[in-house]
Amino acid sequence: MSVPYIRPRRGSKEDPLRIGILISGGGSGLSALIKYQLSNPSSHKTELIISDNATAKGLKFGADFDIPAMAIELPEINDKSKRRIKHEELIHDKLIQSRIELVVLSGYMRILSPKFVKKWKGRLINIHPSLLPKYPGAYAHRDALDDGAKITGCTVHLVDEGVDTGEILAQSEVPIFDSDTIEILQERVKKAEHLLYPKVLDDYCSK
Ligand code: GAR
Repeated sequence: MSVPYIRPRRGSKEDPLRIGILISGGGSGLSALIKYQLSNPSSHKTELIISDNATAKGLKFGADFDIPAMAIELPEINDKSKRRIKHEELIHDKLIQSRIELVVLSGYMRILSPKFVKKWKGRLINIHPSLLPKYPGAYAHRDALDDGAKITGCTVHLVDEGVDTGEILAQSEVPIFDSDTIEILQERVKKAEHLLYPKVLDDYCSK
């Protein structure tokens, strides 16, 4: 008699969680994450890529890796707050349609409304290019350099209703050198991000 089949636990390497990745730009983090998933037993699998911007270079990784990828841009609604809510509803509907279990922000440059955050609380993760709570917001590298900091890094955190204020899951330090420009520093921090994010997601999904 054969051993009865035991369904693997959701979020295990045998049955990874279905993740949807939100991007706005180049998608180097997205690409690193997918490469990790393809070359390691991983507790997460990318099933959907959404960009808020149709010209985002990162969208091409959908075709490269055979993963559905699409732009969902802001709808044409005059009222700014209605436009934002509708945009997020479109994204939410697509995530649900694709049976996404965890939303991963990877260079997504919009602040999500409390309404969206509430729906995905505990299932919405971001990576930020600084050692939070230092230098939140869109100009982390500029702020670190202006501050004369000698160390910066990256932070993986749960998203809450604030801006880069959610529970910190992990951080990785990166040195800053006197000769650094924003671009040089950004590239060095990205290298650390690409190592940290997939591993933290593995830990998080398997819990
Ligand atoms: C990354 O450094 C990421 O941490 C940052 O944008 C970059 C995206 O690069 N995210 C934020 O600043 C979010 N506030 P990529 O498009 O090449 O992955």
